[in-house]
Amino acid sequence: MKLLTTVILLLSGGLIFAQDAKPEYIGSKKCKMCHNKEVKGAQYSNWEATAHANTFDILLTDAAKKIGEKLGLSTTPDQAGECLQCHVTGWGSASGYQLTIDETNKKLVSKNDALKSVSCEACHGPGSLYKGKKVMQAITDGTTDGASLGLTYPDEKTCRGCHNEKSPTFKSFNFEERAKKIAHPYPQQ
Ligand code: HEC
Ligand code: HEC
Ligand code: HEC
Ligand code: HEC
Repeated sequence: MKLLTTVILLLSGGLIFAQDAKPEYIGSKKCKMCHNKEVKGAQYSNWEATAHANTFDILLTDAAKKIGEKLGLSTTPDQAGECLQCHVTGWGSASGYQLTIDETNKKLVSKNDALKSVSCEACHGPGSLYKGKKVMQAITDGTTDGASLGLTYPDEKTCRGCHNEKSPTFKSFNFEERAKKIAHPYPQQ
């Protein structure tokens, strides 16, 4: 009886914890563990081959620096929030990509390097609460609500959060065409 009570307390405690906890960014290497098998569509390798895996490095190019100079940025693009907001994952969130001051040499350095570039969680939401195998399976089976654990189902609106006029190089965005270029579905059964 005592054991049963303890189990119930532990279980309900766990549930309350899950509801109170805020989802945090964990980095795409964590998703890779389970999402890189060919038979399941190898989402990680698939993503790695897209431009989204390169969005931070592109800020280091001369083309990017020129854009920054034109806009009168006070730092280089790789250290400017004006650019990072769409070129990394979780900008503006405590667990997302961040810049901090290194106190020893007073230089701006990056925290959370794993979140450089537009990675899984930029579209699917921060993964700390949904990354468990059983939870993931339950979400897929429809027995757990992914949204309540931070998982988002990306649609055109998600893309337009970055692909919009605020981007200094913006020309146009056709969702159907672009979505095809980054698609990483499960293989047809
Ligand atoms: C411990 C293993 C594991 C980890 C880590 C993991 N997943 Fe999953 N995920 C699964 C499993 C298992 C499924 C169920 C489908 C399948 O078998 O692939 C799934 C399903 C999904 C789905 C489909 C959900 C649906 O409703 O159909 C998405 C999207 C997803 N995962 C994204 C991610 C992202 C993004 C990360 C990293 C932040 C991640 N997963 C980390 C195991 C994992
Ligand atoms: C509102 C989101 C957003 C902001 C802010 C933003 N970018 Fe981008 N950037 C994008 C998107 C989206 C693309 C991809 C464009 C495409 O393919 O349609 C892109 C592409 C680029 C490219 C690739 C070249 C090209 O023409 O596609 C460079 C270089 C670049 N951005 C530099 C910058 C710099 C420098 C800043 C800061 C001054 C910045 N971006 C701010 C979203 C943004
Ligand atoms: C967090 C910001 C962000 C989000 C969200 C985002 N993108 Fe991008 N995307 C970028 C940036 C930045 C680039 C530029 C990368 C480069 O040129 O190296 C880019 C480049 C691309 C490219 C490569 C350019 C091309 O046309 O070949 C495609 C395709 C693309 N995005 C499609 C999408 C789609 C579809 C979605 C939504 C499902 C989406 N993106 C969501 C920031 C984002
Ligand atoms: C640019 C946005 C974007 C990024 C980055 C991204 N995804 Fe997705 N993902 C999507 C979209 C859009 C879909 C299709 C959603 C749908 O069909 O409703 C999808 C679908 C999925 C699915 C379900 C496949 C299916 O057939 O139902 C899984 C699993 C998944 N993504 C995992 C990942 C993992 C793991 C990463 C990182 C390695 C990642 N995604 C990166 C936008 C993205």
